[in-house]
Amino acid sequence: AGFTVEILPEIDSTNTELMRRARAGRLEPVLLVAERQTAGRGRLGRAWQSAAGDSLTFSLGLPLAPRDWSGLSLAVGAAVAESLHPDIGLKWPNDLWLRDRKLAGILIETASFGEQRYAVIGIGTNIAPPAPLPAGAALPATPPAWLRELLPAIDAPQALLRMAPALVQAVQAFEALGFAPFQARFNARDVLRDRAVTLSDGSSGTAHGVGESGALLVHTAQGMMPITSSEVSVRPV
Ligand code: BTN
Repeated sequence: AGFTVEILPEIDSTNTELMRRARAGRLEPVLLVAERQTAGRGRLGRAWQSAAGDSLTFSLGLPLAPRDWSGLSLAVGAAVAESLHPDIGLKWPNDLWLRDRKLAGILIETASFGEQRYAVIGIGTNIAPPAPLPAGAALPATPPAWLRELLPAIDAPQALLRMAPALVQAVQAFEALGFAPFQARFNARDVLRDRAVTLSDGSSGTAHGVGESGALLVHTAQGMMPITSSEVSVRPV
């Protein structure tokens, strides 16, 4: 199925805008790119800020009917990472990671409209850092990673041309086949593998990759626990 590509100079959030349109009955597939977001959103109610440097922010909105939604963000992460560079890792459930720093984040939101389920898959990618900060300026506690560290000539339009087709293909494959074709692809880039992790409920263990539906397998004192909730945050110890 075809879809429209739309580029806006500025919007609050590409995810918010596509959900607004869906509520107004506009459920057709669209890839919406924003040159600037004034209220970019991340997972768990966090903000996604991209004013500090160059970034690429876009969302794909479309009606979607997979048998099982779990694993969609992992499938998308694997596909877009592959479209960019072999050295980009994946941090469960949905961050692209580069040398222990966050390169890109994925925010998936869904809503039902009658029989239709509409999905919005938003991706924010750090492309290039701002001009050097004045000497002595405070750095953020966890500085982000930038795609230009790996691809010296990349800019946002070029990154979009790589990521967008990979995203569309991944979503179509996921709808038809589920997570199965993506499990090994995710695990090949899993940055938590064999690392000690702490879960947000306080328990800890060792991460052993993802299972066949995308659950993170963590070996704890209680045995192997499949972690499925995206509300459970996982951090390397
Ligand atoms: C996260 O890391 O928590 C997810 C970040 C997702 C950011 C993207 S930028 C395009 C789309 N629009 C938004 O408001 N958020 C997503």
